[in-house]
Amino acid sequence: MSDLVQLEEQIMAEISAADDEPAIEAVRVAALGKKGSVSEKLKTLGAMSPEERQTMGPAINGLKSRIADAIAERKQALKAKAIEARLERERVDVTLPTRPSPVETGRIHPISQVIDEITAIFGDMGFSIAEGPDIETDYYNFTALNFPEGHPAREMHDTFFFAKDDKGEAKVLRTHTSPVQIRTMESQKPPIRIVIPGKTYRQDSDATHSPMFHQIEGLVIDKTANVANMKWVLTEFCKTFFEVPQVKMRFRPSFFPFTEPSLEVDIQCDRSGSEVKFGEGDDWMEILGCGMVHPNVLRAGGLDPDEYQGFAWGMGIDRIAMLKYGMPDLRAFFDADVRWLNHYGFRPLDMPTLFGGLSS
Ligand code: DAH
Repeated sequence: MSDLVQLEEQIMAEISAADDEPAIEAVRVAALGKKGSVSEKLKTLGAMSPEERQTMGPAINGLKSRIADAIAERKQALKAKAIEARLERERVDVTLPTRPSPVETGRIHPISQVIDEITAIFGDMGFSIAEGPDIETDYYNFTALNFPEGHPAREMHDTFFFAKDDKGEAKVLRTHTSPVQIRTMESQKPPIRIVIPGKTYRQDSDATHSPMFHQIEGLVIDKTANVANMKWVLTEFCKTFFEVPQVKMRFRPSFFPFTEPSLEVDIQCDRSGSEVKFGEGDDWMEILGCGMVHPNVLRAGGLDPDEYQGFAWGMGIDRIAMLKYGMPDLRAFFDADVRWLNHYGFRPLDMPTLFGGLSS
């Protein structure tokens, strides 16, 4: 009997000495586990005489349940202590200002926003988006667009040429988005209604020109597309984009190798104040080039000009972004200056839609 008392004292001392959950668990296993000291005692009951068992049974079982209770109680206390320690350690100061999420601080570049605005407008008119490579062959950038070899119009573009390859061919950084017209005609059957936003490159740099800039091209090909349709599409676009109820447009004869007739479009504006206003005033500003697709271009795209006709236009995105949002210097667009972006950028969730308002 006295060894039971001693065992109990020893285990109880271990229980009080255990100061974390793994330690109390170790005490439990050492006492009540399969090979634990108390379990071993219980096993001895089998070999005892009935009389002996009558006194030893309740003694050992009593010991077992007192120890189990003591362990459970200590465990509970240690658990509470651990939670308290953790609460202390992970204390949150609710008076601190919250850290803004990336959705709050990130800004959409005005070019991306304006591309979204433009594609929302044309998407609503039934256009889809097409894209093509920035590095083009001379064929797609010039020849297929009816720029004959040695034609002076090639010089108008201040092209960036790559070094000649093994075949003596020099690729170019595309000087306009027009090559995607040909790529689309090659891969898609009419009716075609696409807009082509993208980067374009020319050797030019000042406050309103950057060697990398953005254009958006439009192409409509079917059997009846005509100049009147083109004027309507472009006028609707300008009204919606500049968010004015009416705008006068002026279509002037011009020249592009890939269109016949070719036109340049001016939009009515008022420059009398500190910023340019559209839809009022009696000044004009050139905003895009357009025309009926030249038969040679249709042929280069694999279409029969006796069956199909179409119109196309090309517009500088950067310029109309500057005009709409009053950004004075184009070079700042590509400086990656966060202060500029914080000022002129758009909030990520302000997605332009026609029903929600483009820029509101
Ligand atoms: N590609 C012309 C340029 O970069 C713009 C242009 C004019 C595109 C008339 C067209 C067009 O599709 O029809 O200057």
